[in-house]
Amino acid sequence: MCVLMSGMQAFAQNVWTVDGPNVRDFGVLFTTRMTVLKLSDGSVWVDSPVPVPFDTLKHITELGPVSYLVAATPRHVWRLEAWHTLFPKAQVWAPRTTPFTLKKGHLPFTGRLSDAPNPEWADDFDQLAFKGNPLIEEVLFFHKASRTVILDDLIQIHPRVKGKLLRNALFKLEGVASPQGGVPIDIRLSFTHRNLARRSLEKLLSWDFDKLIIGHGVCIEKDAKPFVEQAFHWLRR
Ligand SMILES: [Fe+2]
Repeated sequence: MCVLMSGMQAFAQNVWTVDGPNVRDFGVLFTTRMTVLKLSDGSVWVDSPVPVPFDTLKHITELGPVSYLVAATPRHVWRLEAWHTLFPKAQVWAPRTTPFTLKKGHLPFTGRLSDAPNPEWADDFDQLAFKGNPLIEEVLFFHKASRTVILDDLIQIHPRVKGKLLRNALFKLEGVASPQGGVPIDIRLSFTHRNLARRSLEKLLSWDFDKLIIGHGVCIEKDAKPFVEQAFHWLRR
């Protein structure tokens, strides 16, 4: 992956990631990342926006009009607030509200992300709402042109951080330590409707993808599908 002067990382053609500041969730520090795409109609689509320096913001606005602000998981909805202030004309999309939805202010949502691609971006993406979990219903995107799956929280790969013994041990217990990573154990346990989850996994694995962008940890630039299959081994019958 190539890091540009603007702080954006070129992931694939018309696909960039930008790492944001660390945030604390349930007392643990998490890295953050957003995904920026230029759609085939020239507009810019942003998932899970993070605070960025002025230069990065300038570069993003030079790509095209920022038309879509998306939070793919209920846990990232709060991040939309600041970007809605920056781009008040952009559509604002979030998943179905659950008890775990983290929200700030009164965002004028354009709508809720569903299990089918939004007509606005159906030329570029397929999407699925990963069912079977009453607490967190994350939406996954498949960018067809670059054969990339974009996912926020469902799979995480946390590298060891020197000197952070407790954090490293916690991520290992959670089943999300680098290099193999995986679906965090607390999320696995909250999938109470396994048959629904298996159906979502089938749709995910039916996509012809090769790359994986994740919100927390190391992204995968090649042969991502066997990795995703392995990450969901616990869901097999
Ligand atoms: Fe997250």
